[in-house]
Amino acid sequence: MSLHDPVPAPEDAGIQIRNLTVSYDTDRGRFHALNDVTLDIRPRHITGFIGESGSGKTTLAMAMMNAIHNPGRIDGGSVLLEGAGDVLRLKGEELRRLHGRYFGFVFQASSNSLNPLKRIGAQLMDLGRSHGVTDLRALLREAKTLAERMGMDGDRVLTSYQHELSGGMRQRVGIIFALVLKARVIILDEPTTALDMLSQQAVLEIVRTIHQERGLTTVIITHDMGVVAEMADRVVVLYAGRVVEEGPTQSVLRHPRHPYTRGLIHAIPRITGNLHDVEPLQGTPPDLATIPTIGCVFRERCPIRAPICDTVAPTPTSAHGDGIVTCHGVDQHD
Ligand SMILES: Nc1ncnc2c1ncn2[C@@H]1O[C@H](COP(=O)(O)OP(=O)(O)OP(=O)(O)O)[C@@H](O)[C@H]1O
Ligand SMILES: [Mg+2]
Repeated sequence: MSLHDPVPAPEDAGIQIRNLTVSYDTDRGRFHALNDVTLDIRPRHITGFIGESGSGKTTLAMAMMNAIHNPGRIDGGSVLLEGAGDVLRLKGEELRRLHGRYFGFVFQASSNSLNPLKRIGAQLMDLGRSHGVTDLRALLREAKTLAERMGMDGDRVLTSYQHELSGGMRQRVGIIFALVLKARVIILDEPTTALDMLSQQAVLEIVRTIHQERGLTTVIITHDMGVVAEMADRVVVLYAGRVVEEGPTQSVLRHPRHPYTRGLIHAIPRITGNLHDVEPLQGTPPDLATIPTIGCVFRERCPIRAPICDTVAPTPTSAHGDGIVTCHGVDQHD
């Protein structure tokens, strides 16, 4: 139940994304950063978004919250959030209230979202006030508990300015901000990149525990396949703004169907476990200005390219039981 809102968000906040297309206006033209993305984010699951830099992970997360700003634009589609309807139809105060009730978001560079001139505790109170929290003491107690569960001195964190905290501590503070309002959907964009292995483990552990305790809908965006393997129930693989594969993590990581997913997994020693098996992914990450507009967007880098890939874009087919793969080269039935 929300700390502050008389109408609680439903326990299970699943999200159905349908045909979502987002573009950015750049000095080279307007390009699609997400192209016709259809995806279900399941409640009480941790979903990992993976894909190379520029594949659209952050854009997808922001679009799910209807938080795409200039020079970006949502061109079409819908984002149905259980209990709230189509998020893309909301704006202004309604959207702000929805963000407070439902979403906790940790930005990719979370230290940038802190105010350098205010102590962390004061910023937490501002956050609470802006979302109508009346019991600010309870909010601070909750933040202190979270800080301590993440291995920090709670009092010290609350009385510090951002520059008094290490990069790793700031990252954990970002996570506290996302959790403290009791949101139902938590989105963590690269939550552990500034952390050493031990702190990373501590942070992932608390995220997982709170996810379970509160029955959250959690999304983790990461480059780190180890984090996905350890944390995510399901994984979404993005390439050039398309979902190329989606399914239960174990199945996708053990039996990747899309050649891009295979490439990603083989490029990482932590998954194969053998340094000799590591093969860098061929080619360079896609540039939106030059990706093909007809046929398959991955074909230039694809080891199983066929003539049809030049002319026809593959459509999602069923894979991994209840998941999908978007590739002409895979068997349609499994
Ligand atoms: N504000 C913006 N203006 C113009 N183009 C943008 C903007 N934000 C993102 N893009 C473009 O949209 C595409 C997707 O970017 P996005 O940040 O969503 O990728 P990402 O998968 O999160 O990458 P990373 O792993 O580097 O964080 C990229 O080609 C990027 O250049
Ligand atoms: Mg990103």
